[in-house]
Amino acid sequence: MRIPEHLAIIMDGNGRWAEQRNLPRMLGHHHGVETAKVIIEECRRLRVPYLTLYAFSSENWGRPDEEVDALMSLLNTFLERELQSLLTHRIRLNVIGSIRRLPAPVRETLVQTMERTASNRDMVLTLALSYGARDEIVEAARMLAHDAVAGLLDPSEIDEKTFSNALQTADMPDPDFLIRTSGEMRISNFLLWQLAYAEIYVTPVLWPDFGVVDLHQALAEFGRRERRYGLTGGQLQHETRE
Ligand code: FPP
Repeated sequence: MRIPEHLAIIMDGNGRWAEQRNLPRMLGHHHGVETAKVIIEECRRLRVPYLTLYAFSSENWGRPDEEVDALMSLLNTFLERELQSLLTHRIRLNVIGSIRRLPAPVRETLVQTMERTASNRDMVLTLALSYGARDEIVEAARMLAHDAVAGLLDPSEIDEKTFSNALQTADMPDPDFLIRTSGEMRISNFLLWQLAYAEIYVTPVLWPDFGVVDLHQALAEFGRRERRYGLTGGQLQHETRE
């Protein structure tokens, strides 16, 4: 099986999963967390080097307060509960997003978990939390502008590499595969810059129902895709022969 170097996932459909069963939305999120655990462990087993999960978008702050509060406490519990498993599987936790907007207890747990797992090398698990790609891009532009004004950076030397290095994902390769569950054909402000060449796979399966078999199906499809980076198929065949 061809394994992506960096798999990014938009975990969508927890709310619908619950509504379809006349259950409170939060129960969908609880099942969603269990799915996340299964998928993280399977990615680790398959030796996916980088896994990035869109866990909470900057737009999600607009949801009802009870849902936001419950999601934050669910996240905190998940991190505390899974620390041992991250250590056992040698997974490093990383976070992207506006962490300062998160409640202090969640922030503290995140920082502690990142510190405790910092030397793990087998997989980097990045949670996008309070994350919005436009925010991230604007922040990078602001940082570069500051450096330019301070005379530390020549504006004419800003290139894609400089820009990538100013993003929160600076130390990661760009995702080569994006999975979105629950059928929406949107990027939803997720890694807009980094997904430029990613293969996109959308499945109608709702996140709480997404299992190992669904992940394998997605990866099989990834293996069938031809990544051309704007070249022709013939050119690529030529390159791989060289
Ligand atoms: C999408 O469902 C999910 C979220 C908004 C975020 C919460 C994600 C989890 C609880 C799963 C993973 C958690 C961790 C800690 C890794 P939705 O509410 O947008 O569903 P809907 O579109 O059907 O309403």
